[in-house]
Amino acid sequence: MKAIRGATTVKCDSPAEIKTAVFELLREICAKNGISEGDIEFILFSNTDDLRSYYPAKAAREAGFSVCSLFSAAEPHIDGSLKHCIRVMVVCDELKTAPKHVYLNEAINLRRDLTKKFNVAIDGPAGSGKSTVSKIIAKKLGVLCLDTGAMYRACALACIKNGINISDEKQVEGAIAAADIAVKYSDGRQTTVLNGDDVSEVIRTPDISMAASTVSKYAFVRGKMVDLQRKIAKEQSCVLDGRDIGTNVLPDAEFKFYLTASPAVRAERRMKENKLKGINQPYDVILKDISLRDEQDKTREIAPLKKAADAIEIDTSDLNIEEVCDLIIKKIQEKI
Ligand code: DC
Repeated sequence: MKAIRGATTVKCDSPAEIKTAVFELLREICAKNGISEGDIEFILFSNTDDLRSYYPAKAAREAGFSVCSLFSAAEPHIDGSLKHCIRVMVVCDELKTAPKHVYLNEAINLRRDLTKKFNVAIDGPAGSGKSTVSKIIAKKLGVLCLDTGAMYRACALACIKNGINISDEKQVEGAIAAADIAVKYSDGRQTTVLNGDDVSEVIRTPDISMAASTVSKYAFVRGKMVDLQRKIAKEQSCVLDGRDIGTNVLPDAEFKFYLTASPAVRAERRMKENKLKGINQPYDVILKDISLRDEQDKTREIAPLKKAADAIEIDTSDLNIEEVCDLIIKKIQEKI
């Protein structure tokens, strides 16, 4: 007897969600292990006690598993355990290869021993959605999210605080050499720290955005930040969002995505974000800033903003955040 294990999560407790998740899980298990129903002796399901609207075993029958024995059981409630989770054990008499276990959606997180360390590079211009998407993807995958733009923003703030002329490379170099820039994590959330102070919020102004684009041109600044980024990415699986992750920071990243959107859509999104933060900038000014920053980030000499040849490009202009995340998670799951 050989057992193939698997698990998946659903967004909410509804029969449609549970059925779709069970169909997907069984389809992936059969495809990855080269089996069909005739090879299966029995299938055992368990689900967390927050799923009450449908039996996974019933969903499996509906998916066409009409002959093998099926059984579902509810798990006890355990504080802090993964929510809305369906686990499965597919038992076969024989398998041609070693069992390939399948963990989908947030359940990927459950079996780190079955999934090796990996990095996800998400690059793209300002307003392409990469930072929101990266945070959601990282949470779903249960890994860290490193917002590398925040690090360049902290560099810009260090210069501004010191009254440095940011057009003068030597002055910037001096300020950044003396600055202590670090990222810390608590509950999976990144805090950007400059000389011991949490600057995560104050670096989110339009002035800092433009200054970050300027100081990030300089070799010394990039060298210091890239060293730190590589160190973090080497120690654990993480999603990194930036401009040069796939091309320069981690050219060997297991997964690379390049997000784009039209300048008009990006300016629209930035305007909404700004409004939420109490920053009221006219649309035309934002559009101009975005175009200027694009130009500066794309044309600088060192590690310019560019799609890596092996990155998957996603135009997010007509997609919502959830659609972009689903696309990326699917691509990652195909390979993990
Ligand atoms: O992603 P962001 O808007 O927070 O980035 C601010 C600036 O930092 C961006 O205009 C260019 C620079 N940057 C960079 O050069 N390389 C990165 N990996 C990330 C950001």
